[in-house]
Amino acid sequence: MINAQDVRALEPPAGAAADWTIPQAWNGYTREDHAMWDRLFARQAAMLEGRAVPAFLRGLDVLRLSKPGIPDFEELSERLGALTGWRVVAVPGLVPDDVFFRHLANRTFVAGRFIRGPEQIDYLQEPDVFHDVFGHVPLLSDPVFADYMQAYGQGGLRSLAFNALERLARLYWYTVEFGLIRDGAGLKLYGAGIVSSFGESHFALEDASPNRIGFDLARVMRTRYRIDDFQETYFVIDSFESLLRQTLETDFGPLYQALDGLPDIATDALLETDRVVHRGTHARKARP
Ligand SMILES: [Fe+2]
Repeated sequence: MINAQDVRALEPPAGAAADWTIPQAWNGYTREDHAMWDRLFARQAAMLEGRAVPAFLRGLDVLRLSKPGIPDFEELSERLGALTGWRVVAVPGLVPDDVFFRHLANRTFVAGRFIRGPEQIDYLQEPDVFHDVFGHVPLLSDPVFADYMQAYGQGGLRSLAFNALERLARLYWYTVEFGLIRDGAGLKLYGAGIVSSFGESHFALEDASPNRIGFDLARVMRTRYRIDDFQETYFVIDSFESLLRQTLETDFGPLYQALDGLPDIATDALLETDRVVHRGTHARKARP
């Protein structure tokens, strides 16, 4: 679901190019594979109507992701490229951080090409093509979010010198994967980990259990996250413009230094300084 902090291998696996990309091999998908995409698509499209940020729904539309079957990355990249200059390429699995950041900095989104089986319809550990393409790609058609993703990749490359990967991974986690956005008086979903998950699409927005608090860059970078269950805290951005602006205007070097030595914040904690949108009941206990 996120860039691979644990991938230590430096060499791409056999069959992959030097930049870790592989052919999508679209012709290799079976009828069952395409049917699984269609099933997941229908369920999420219905769930997200009125819940996802309008730019996401627009992205589904302009990229014609509702077309039956798993999208062909070349065709998808042509449409996406014409809008924002991004393209989608296949990789064999998680890739090292520097490879991931370099692709983002070059406006290339790396996606898994396999699709989950029926037994994993609601939970899988490695991102599949549904998570990566349905979850991430629609917002890459939004010019501001597209710039944010590139800025994140550039920041990632710079962070390698600061030993600050964990902090930067938290920013990705709480925005690109699990972000909420203000929409008038209410909230909407935009994080790929949420919009590609049936259960979390509802939970993140409507359940009383998790905290929902205003986005604060330094606060996010100190906050631990859960990889094994729904989040206990979601951060709410005001707009993609403000997220992009903060990312571009912050000098991350001094910020990393300022955060050094400060304790991490627990996944369910609230601080006095938080702009609380919703104080979570934490009634839902995490998966053991
Ligand atoms: Fe993801």
